[in-house]
This record gives sequence, C-alpha cells and structure tokens, in this order.
Amino acid sequence: MDALALLRPLGAAALVAFAPLAASAQTRAAEPSGRVEELLSKMTLEEKIGQLNMVSIVPNVEPGYDRIVKGIAAGSVGSVYNVHGADDTRALQREAVENSRLKIPLFLALDVIHGYRTIFPTPLAQAASWDLAAMEKAERVAAREASASGINMIFAPMLDVSRDPRWGRGVEGIGESAWLGARIAEARVRGLQGSDLKERGNVVSCAKHFGANGAAAGGRDYTASDLSDRAVREIYMPPFEAATKAGARCFMAALNANDGVPSAANSHLIEEVLRKDWRFDGIVTSDFLAVNEIVNHGVAADQADASRIAINAGTDVDMESQAYVNRLPELVRSGAVSPARLDAAVRRVLTLKEDLGLFDDPYRGATPEGEKAALLTQANRDAAQDIAEKSLVLLKNEGGVLPFARDVKRVGLVGPLAEGQADTLGPWAARGVPPETSTLAKGLAERLGSSAELTVTAGGSTFGSSDDEIAAAVETARRSDVVVLAVGERFNQSGEAASRADLGLPGDQERLVRAVLAVGKPTAVVVFAGRPLVLTDIAVRAKALLYAWQPGTMGGLAIARTLMGDVAPVGRLPMTFPRAVGQIPTTHDQRPGGRPPETPEKPYTSSYSDEGHAPLFAFGYGLTYTSFHYGPPKLDRDAIKDGETAKVSVSIRNVGERPGVAMAQLYLRPEVAAVSQPAKVLRGFGRVELAPGETKTVTLPVSVADFSYWRTASDFVATPGPIRIMTGPNAGDTQDATLVYKP
Ligand code: BGC
Repeated sequence: MDALALLRPLGAAALVAFAPLAASAQTRAAEPSGRVEELLSKMTLEEKIGQLNMVSIVPNVEPGYDRIVKGIAAGSVGSVYNVHGADDTRALQREAVENSRLKIPLFLALDVIHGYRTIFPTPLAQAASWDLAAMEKAERVAAREASASGINMIFAPMLDVSRDPRWGRGVEGIGESAWLGARIAEARVRGLQGSDLKERGNVVSCAKHFGANGAAAGGRDYTASDLSDRAVREIYMPPFEAATKAGARCFMAALNANDGVPSAANSHLIEEVLRKDWRFDGIVTSDFLAVNEIVNHGVAADQADASRIAINAGTDVDMESQAYVNRLPELVRSGAVSPARLDAAVRRVLTLKEDLGLFDDPYRGATPEGEKAALLTQANRDAAQDIAEKSLVLLKNEGGVLPFARDVKRVGLVGPLAEGQADTLGPWAARGVPPETSTLAKGLAERLGSSAELTVTAGGSTFGSSDDEIAAAVETARRSDVVVLAVGERFNQSGEAASRADLGLPGDQERLVRAVLAVGKPTAVVVFAGRPLVLTDIAVRAKALLYAWQPGTMGGLAIARTLMGDVAPVGRLPMTFPRAVGQIPTTHDQRPGGRPPETPEKPYTSSYSDEGHAPLFAFGYGLTYTSFHYGPPKLDRDAIKDGETAKVSVSIRNVGERPGVAMAQLYLRPEVAAVSQPAKVLRGFGRVELAPGETKTVTLPVSVADFSYWRTASDFVATPGPIRIMTGPNAGDTQDATLVYKP
C-alpha cells in the first residue's frame, strides 16, 4: 500500500445517494510552466514579494484606495479582496495588466460564504439538508454570480468541524461530523471550481481555516486549542483532505493556534501534511492579519521574525499584515529566508493565476451589463428556495399541528424575527440586499394570498419586550386560528467574533413564547439561528417546533410553503442540540470512557448530578410529516477483509398517512482497538422516498477505511475484531449488527 493510501482517512463510504454535477481534479501537470518561469526570471525581489501581498480595499469607502492602486501599478500588490462589482474589479485589474511593469493580473477575492447576491441558507443550514447535490448547486450559483462581478477567488468553503455551539463561526461551517464535513467539502469545492478553472464562471476555492480553528477552547473565537495529533487527524483534517482531493487550489491558514503553534506558522501541517502527504499544489494564504498575530501569540519577536516564520512554514501569501512587503526584502537579502523559498511561493501564486486563465483572460468576461443579468435571476432564486426548503428541520410536531390546514382563515405571525430581513439572510451575506429578502412575513403573505388574513405582531425585539408588546402579541394569537412564532437570534449573534456563553433565546423571547403558547392556539415555533440553541423549556411547551436557521433570500417563502404542507421538512441536525450549555461537548462521537453514562443515571458514572446525559436533540435528528419504522441493519456478510466493501441494508416502512422521505444513517464502532474508539461515529447515509404503507431498503457501503483510526505518528490502521454497525434515523436511535474485520 502506498503512503497516500495509508493516509486516506475515514471516507471511503462515500456512496451516498447524490449525483455530482461535475467531476473535479484540478491538480496541474508536474512540469513547470514556461510563462511562469520566464516571468520569475524577470522579476525584481520587490515584484516577487508583491505577488505574496494580499490587501483589502472597498473602493470609495476606504481611504487607502489610491495608495493601493499605486501599489498595484508598482507591482507591490498581488491580490485584492473585498472589492466587488464589475466596474470596480475591472478598474483594479486594468491597473495590474496595463500599468504594472510585468502586467501580472490580480487575484480578486471575496468572502462569498453562502451566496453572492442571491443568498442561500447559511452553510450550517445547508449542512442540515444533507443534500450534497443541492450544496454543490448553491456554490455553482454563488461562483457564477461572483464571477460575473469580477471576483476570481472565493474564501470558501469554511471547513472547520465545529463541535461547540457556543462558537459563533459554526454557522459558516459543516457541523460536527468529520465524515459529513468531508462529503460537503467535496461538493462545495466542485461547485465553486467546476471541472476546469479556466472556464468563466468558475473561481478559485480557498478552503479555510486550515488547522483546527473549530476547536477554539470554550467556543471563544480565535482562542487556541490543545488537541492530540489523533484528534487533529481524525476529526479536523478529513474535510480539508477531501477538499484537496476535490481539487481546491487555495487554503487559508487559521488565526488560532493548536498545541502552541499558530496555524500560519505550522510547518508540520502546511508542509508535511498538506503539501507532502496530500500533494496539494495550490497556494496557502494567511488569514486576516495572521502573520502579524504570530507576534501576539508570542511565537515571534517582531514583524520580521513573524514573516520569516510564516514563509518558512509554507504560508505563501500574507493577507493584510503587510509584513511580507515590509520585511521580506531584508530577510531574503540577509539569507534568513532563502531565495528558493521565496521563488517557490511566488511560483505557486503565478501558476495558479495561469491555471485560472488570468494571463489570457484577466477580466474573465465580467462587465457591468453581464453582471446585472447574472445576479438574482429567477433560476438562482429557485435554487436558493430549493435548498432553503431542504434545510429546515422539524424538531417536534405533536398531534400533527403541522402542516396547517389549507383552508385556514386567520394566521397570526408573532415574534421579532417575523420581518427581519438581515436576520433571515444571516451573517456573511456578501452582496445580499436585505430588502430583497423573503422574510417570513413576506413569504406567508405570498403563500396565503387572499385566502387568509395575516396579522403580524413583533411582540418586542431580540433585545427585549415590554409587557404591552407581549400583550399585543397575545391578542394577535387570540384573534387567530393558527399562530406562527418567529423567534431566535439576530444575524450578527453568530459568525466571526460572535461566540455566546448563554444559548437561550436572546432578550425576552422565552417569556414571549410562553405567553403566546398559553393562549392555546395551534402554534408552530419557528427558530432562526446560526447555531444550536438551548431550547429545552420551549421544546416541552411547544407542540410544533421548526428550526429555520438563517435561510437566506428565499427563506420566508420556503418556511411558509413548509408550514402549509406544500413541501414536507427533510432536514436533519448536523450538530447535536444540548439540553444545557453545561453539557457541552455533546457531539455524537464521544468516547464512552471507563464508566459510560447509564440511563437512568447511576452514581459514579460519567454524568451530571443536575442534568441528564442525553442531549435535547441528537445529531442527525429531524422529523417530517409522516413517520417511519426502521428495521435493524442487515449485513451481506459476516466478515470483511482489506479491499472489500460490505453492504449494510436497512428496511424502512412509511407507517404514516402521507408520502415522505426517510433517511437512514450509518454509524459504527470497533469494539476493541488499540485506542478507545467513539461510542458511534457517522459513516454514511442514504435517502428513500416512500408512499404511505410502502417499504423500501437503503443500502450503504462499509469498508475498512471507515473503521480505521489514527494509530501511530503516521498512519490510519484498523484492528482485527468485531465492528459494531449501527443504523437508524438519527444518532440517538440506532439498532446494531456485528461485522468482523478479518484482514
Ligand atoms: C476571517 C476569514 C475571512 C477573512 C477575510 C477573517 O477575519 O477569519 O474567514 O476570509 O477575514 O475577510
């Protein structure tokens, strides 16, 4: 077995039911490019370093615009980000390709995290769809829109496995599962880059934040983590490795440090793991100011020291610190950074510019007219609505409150999130325009038309509610046949630098919910949020609970159609929902320890004295408008050898009265291994559509890679013996079978 095969982590069971839109393998041929080598031979030291300098500029807003334009002409800027709009991107690109000595085009980058102008549900919401084809499509649309406005590099996908709901940046990510995260990484990279980078409409995908950014201690953004090599390899690396296999050509090193090493200074991860083991041939940029912050971490004495450490660690591009332009000339002259190291970084930048087609097609077709035609088209809105519908998670529906009757006459919409435009879009909404958003109020009005009367009452804000405001909300509920409570977080309560210690509904919303529920009308609580909130009290009181995340431009209509039963919810939680903040971590894949928690809780086991062990909602949980019976897992063999694939079948019957989509999930655990294994860990899923009374079988593959674990300093291996195979509708509800690994 070659080294790469050994390193291939836990993802061989990728046979989930989806059809990728485009095959992608963007790694370039090994031979050096004549054009790149010729350019390199002509460049001054300062011009080379300029290619490693990435700066932010918002034209007409930031004062430094003229200085940056001069820098581009002087060859001291290689990439610009935060610029957008065909006029402005063209103006900067023109400066580079017409007025600089060597006419090297710019990377023009932007954070397009969940859509450019057509805003899709947040990435965490998209992860809740478990629909890889829809996620790929969302990125396709985002790439096309951004590209039409002259952007050629996107700082996405964000691949930080996030296991702590307190961390605000989980909203940008892939949820808690390394395996699901890896599948999402592949889909999103394919969507952004397509199969040929040169093709207009495709952009460079910059996977971030390389390292273990999602492990920030206590969920506090930017905070260091202290992870074992095993945790890094098994939990945090698989999505990044998957991104390289899907062809991602840019990586962004995170702001935080792990095991005392800031990510932009982590030569082990960048040079050994990313470049050598995974054969990544793209560029690595620092995150915003991360080179300067190596000094703050206390790992460099000053900016020069930080520059030396970062470039020697393999960080090619300096985002925003201006450390490389200021310090590298002297460092190269003094020999602290070798000319070969500098040339390698510059060569990677120029090679990627060439592979993107920038030398021959620097504007990539971006024109103001083309841009207008490409943004927020009906097709793009349809794609956004499709995945918004698929990302909604029905958490409770006691007594079949939902869907509401089609002939309902009076609908009361209550709560501070009913008309929140920016709050419906979510954080990092790129060029999304809040008034273009289908809020829940707009969506319900559109869906109900003149067939029902809709009354909207805010009941206060997310900051607080007066008694009068709550009384008005209660009055609306009294006068309605059915009530929708729209509550949750503001858009800026999640995202960067938006960690929270308290995960309840902000302001007085819990009081508002209790008062409105007490009216006793059929009520659906719809929660808008960028993370799992702690909804323990509401989940007891409410009969119907729908998690809407931040569903984007078409979110309101998507929710309205779901409430009215035009479509049924199919989303499943990509993160475990805790009952209390103090239970965190609650991920599905924890090790049992020597004294596993028992139900009911026993003393001297791993549990809390004042709270149960089970989460409020398990990973993978989600209901729909019918119900299913899941049979036990059936194996096509008793034992598995290296190179084989076992088939696990689950028979599912629709025991409800409506058609619906069931989703079987596959978890496993080696019973005995050299190191203790998680009690269960996700390794596959498959969907099936069932008419009432119908039974169908979902078949999922398992191979040895799925139960291999990081064992020594260098490889994934599996231990011979029994493997517990678990299947069911979510991580909290599985049945077992045993497969024996006999190599
Ligand atoms: C964030 C990155 C982002 C960069 C550029 C940083 O603060 O951590 O995710 O890409 O800014 O906007």
